Amino acid sequence: MTGYDLVLFGATGFTGALTAEYLARQLPAHGSWALAGRDRAKLEAVRDRLGPAHSALPLLHADVTDAASLREIATSAKVVINAVGPYLTYGEPLVAACAEAGTDYVDLTGEPEFFDRMYVRHHETARRTGARLVHACGFDSIPHDLGVFYTVKQLPEGVPLRISGQVRVSATVSGGTFATALTSFSRLVPLVRAARDRARLEPRSERKVRAELGVPHRDAGRWQMPLLTIDPQIVALSGRLIDCYGPDFRYRHYASFETLPSAIGAAAGVGALAVLAQLPPLRKALSGLRKPGDGPDEDRRAQSWFKVRFVGEGGGKRVVTEVAGGDPGYDEAAKMLAESALCLAFDDLAPAAGQLSPAAAMGDALLARLVDAGLMFRVVPQAR
Ligand SMILES: NC(=O)c1ccc[n+]([C@@H]2O[C@H](COP(=O)([O-])OP(=O)(O)OC[C@H]3O[C@@H](n4cnc5c(N)ncnc54)[C@H](OP(=O)(O)O)[C@@H]3O)[C@@H](O)[C@H]2O)c1
Repeated sequence: MTGYDLVLFGATGFTGALTAEYLARQLPAHGSWALAGRDRAKLEAVRDRLGPAHSALPLLHADVTDAASLREIATSAKVVINAVGPYLTYGEPLVAACAEAGTDYVDLTGEPEFFDRMYVRHHETARRTGARLVHACGFDSIPHDLGVFYTVKQLPEGVPLRISGQVRVSATVSGGTFATALTSFSRLVPLVRAARDRARLEPRSERKVRAELGVPHRDAGRWQMPLLTIDPQIVALSGRLIDCYGPDFRYRHYASFETLPSAIGAAAGVGALAVLAQLPPLRKALSGLRKPGDGPDEDRRAQSWFKVRFVGEGGGKRVVTEVAGGDPGYDEAAKMLAESALCLAFDDLAPAAGQLSPAAAMGDALLARLVDAGLMFRVVPQAR
């Protein structure tokens, strides 16, 4: 029985609460929604912060360890928003419940292993029931996936396309994001295994689609360093699912730095964290550095920003585009997550089911929503 347009699971977390605030402002008057979580008192506190207009907002009990409670939220909603992470630890039971119930699902994962495992275990069920499972609807990977989608649209159709994304960020991370990064770093072997399992199952595209690891180089007066995140995987899924990406599509993903020492320093910092996360006692000690539920305050978030520059080439044309916005990890991630859920719930979209990328599930409709919501997508004029 579908009762709500949207149910937000994990509304008591740092990003979940920001998503609740965004939905409270943006949900259409005819829309219905509910907050879900395991702690009633915390849910009430989040609802109180939304103001008196939302005092009757339903609160649903749901716990990751209680499959029946997840089935209940999956069958009560058109779209379920999952803000409970690390997703490798907590995510699968809700994906399973939504796939079984034929309910659309969005989350904020940036964990490649989780993305691949959910494909292996739940894609076919979702295809059968009609559920759209759309992972990575936060900063991972909406700006990159929709940015590439926007760039492809500026290039000729039916020709090989080469696109690279160059990411710049100024921001700090929450306890949940830090815990998620540590969990991911500690699982390098399962990560490779999950990718191999997916590759065995996924039908080959008739078109060539590659997300390749680039090499460090200088472009646009900056150092571009290969960036190993979930984003190239999501872009590659779009490449396989969306025909206008052409007969031979290649994507490369970079972090962009002003100076070589800052590029080397960032690579060394991530490398050191990845090495330390392999040892359980050190991982435990590191996880104490940031508490679940904590995150950057409003002032810090107001000073945070991101810019992604895309260079696209194909059919003799070269185009440079840019996607930009404010605090990538939280304010903008909550906005992207909420707009993705609103898009699935209320917009007229081409039929699709199974595990989908944001661009493949929602394409132009989501792009229009993000622009209306204040994210910038533009073609950068080039000197002749
Ligand atoms: N890709 C992106 O752009 C992006 C941006 C932001 C966050 N994220 C990801 O989103 C996830 C959440 O981050 P966050 O900083 O918001 O984390 P957080 O503040 O620690 O929140 C975690 C949430 O999970 C809930 N939870 C934990 N165990 C649960 C259980 N057994 N049953 C039900 N709920 C449970 C917590 O509920 P309680 O309040 O009851 O403890 C809380 O609501 C992380 O994986 C993070 O990496 C991604």
